[in-house]
Amino acid sequence: MTIKKTVLVFGATGQQGGAVARALRAGGWLVRALVRDPAGEKAKALASAGIDLYPGDFSDEASIVAAMSGVHGVFSVQPSSGQGPVHGISDEQELRYGKAIADLSLAHGVRHLVYTSVGAAGKGVTGLGHFDTKTEIEEHIRSLDIRSTIVRPAAFMEMLMLPGMGLDQGTYAFFMRPDQAMQCIAVDDIGKIVATIFSDPDRFGGQTIEIAGDAMTGNGLQDLFSRAAGRTITYHRFPDSLLEQNRLLGRLAELVDDGRCAGAADIPALREEFGDLLSLERWLSGPGRPLFDAALKASGHDVALR
Ligand SMILES: NC(=O)c1ccc[n+]([C@@H]2O[C@H](COP(=O)([O-])OP(=O)(O)OC[C@H]3O[C@@H](n4cnc5c(N)ncnc54)[C@H](OP(=O)(O)O)[C@@H]3O)[C@@H](O)[C@H]2O)c1
Repeated sequence: MTIKKTVLVFGATGQQGGAVARALRAGGWLVRALVRDPAGEKAKALASAGIDLYPGDFSDEASIVAAMSGVHGVFSVQPSSGQGPVHGISDEQELRYGKAIADLSLAHGVRHLVYTSVGAAGKGVTGLGHFDTKTEIEEHIRSLDIRSTIVRPAAFMEMLMLPGMGLDQGTYAFFMRPDQAMQCIAVDDIGKIVATIFSDPDRFGGQTIEIAGDAMTGNGLQDLFSRAAGRTITYHRFPDSLLEQNRLLGRLAELVDDGRCAGAADIPALREEFGDLLSLERWLSGPGRPLFDAALKASGHDVALR
């Protein structure tokens, strides 16, 4: 393993940052993680994997500057806005943090900034804070004189396993219609793609890349989940009554219908560029299996999609 340069990873105790930090370490990079609680279990697991912990917070500029000192690259992710005080941060905070990390990266000589956005970004105003914030952060990053790459991930396969979709009752509800395809990606593949991007800044600098590993219709989910569960799982789209009551879910369904949340990643081209990416079927029989097993047992109706 060749030890290369150092990358500062934000959100390393979370899904995307964790996957990026692991993939970078596996590729021989030195990795720093800015963490809010260095004594927490997730932070300790990062330290055991050889990742250097830097205590800090998005709201504490001095902590970010200290962690950024001398690094080659920065991976920037912010938690979702618009989920209220329990699940996330405000739109204003997401904007402020996303732009500040880019500004500080420029000011402190970072050579390559990778920002993770969302598939629906850059396709016109969506009316959903956590998408429109990312369009604005993307535009800000592109306006700066810094080498940057933006990835726009499709829906995470992990999100399909949130409780409240009905698997425990032999049904499954999501946004797509039975014959309508929606793209998705395994979080581990985001890590793999971002690590490849850091390894070739000249090639990927200046690019915005929509990323996904698979596309699934509702009927496809029904077949796949039934086979994986060993019993029939019936797919239906979220009921109209729910989509009317819940503004977030209703708007997301509209954005699936108009294509912006269905995803437009060129999956064959991504496989050529980044190597094998997990299909939902392979994810379900591999890293996703524990989540699927848990979802089969999990009751609950707290659909909190990010
Ligand atoms: N879910 C999807 O399908 C999907 C698809 C595309 C894009 N996205 C976007 O992905 C983003 C979330 O990524 P994720 O799922 O990887 O996030 P996540 O798992 O929720 O992790 C968030 C990370 O941010 C850290 N964090 C939170 N507040 C912080 C603060 N004030 N200062 C420093 N660190 C802080 C958390 O640290 P702690 O451990 O201390 O909390 C955690 O490491 C959202 O913006 C969402 O819109 C989601």
